[in-house]
Amino acid sequence: MSDRSDPDEQEFSVSLSQLLTTQSFGKPLHFFPTIDSTNTYAVKLAHQGASEGTTIIADEQTGGKGRLGRTWVSPPGVNLYLSLILRPPVSTGIAPQINLLAAVAVAEAIVQVCGLTPAIKWPNDVLIDEKKVCGILAEMQTEAGALQSLVLGIGVNVNAPLAAFPPELRDKASSLFLIGGQMINRAAFTAALLTHLEKLYVLWIEKGFPALRPAWEHYASGLISKQITVAAPEGTIVGTVLGLDSDGALLLRDSSGTPRRILAGDVTVIGGYTRGEKP
Ligand code: BTN
Repeated sequence: MSDRSDPDEQEFSVSLSQLLTTQSFGKPLHFFPTIDSTNTYAVKLAHQGASEGTTIIADEQTGGKGRLGRTWVSPPGVNLYLSLILRPPVSTGIAPQINLLAAVAVAEAIVQVCGLTPAIKWPNDVLIDEKKVCGILAEMQTEAGALQSLVLGIGVNVNAPLAAFPPELRDKASSLFLIGGQMINRAAFTAALLTHLEKLYVLWIEKGFPALRPAWEHYASGLISKQITVAAPEGTIVGTVLGLDSDGALLLRDSSGTPRRILAGDVTVIGGYTRGEKP
């Protein structure tokens, strides 16, 4: 823990500790008024042997890291910037499934605390009304090819006003407050998120990805049969979404009719993306 002077920040970290009913997630909790990146700090702690469940939360990030080398806009006092240290007994090939797990946990927390209708855009963006409200960045620490730890970084735009977003992001990103019209208690949201994360993580370790798949598909149902472009490491692919493979890979039929398995990339939905209703 660090020194704090702002009562809002103090309220956030103190009520979070009081609200937490998890076994190990959020314990211990390191809270910072400001930090460069909670992920960078968590990676340092993981290398020093920090236990599974150790959580770093900051009120503000000055160098928030996004996927694909982007930055994550992290203004003070309004959002959630969280990194969780995990030590799953899985290989480096399986570990990226944590991204899909985390997206489901965020969606469940949004439904529970805000009553909104989130959608997941593969692999792990959480959108509401086609605007991104959450980003997830998982970083693996390995030794001789074996997974030592996994830092799961989650940024949720909770109460950010429109002015907190740079103009170029305002048609692509939003916050739970802007969409739902109500300020959300950050501590209550974070406690719900850590609870869902822990529950899904235990399920994943015990039963593997197939146990998470129905929930992921529920939140990502709007993507099925959509035309998308994927900026993948192997190049840009245009195709129609067929579904999710048993290991979490995205299945597509590309524009030449060939089935493709996509393991990583950035998806853009042609014609917009809204999740369908629960069947
Ligand atoms: C994305 O680009 O969609 C991923 C964004 C991940 C942001 C979170 S905020 C908490 C953690 N610390 C970071 O520096 N990044 C992640």
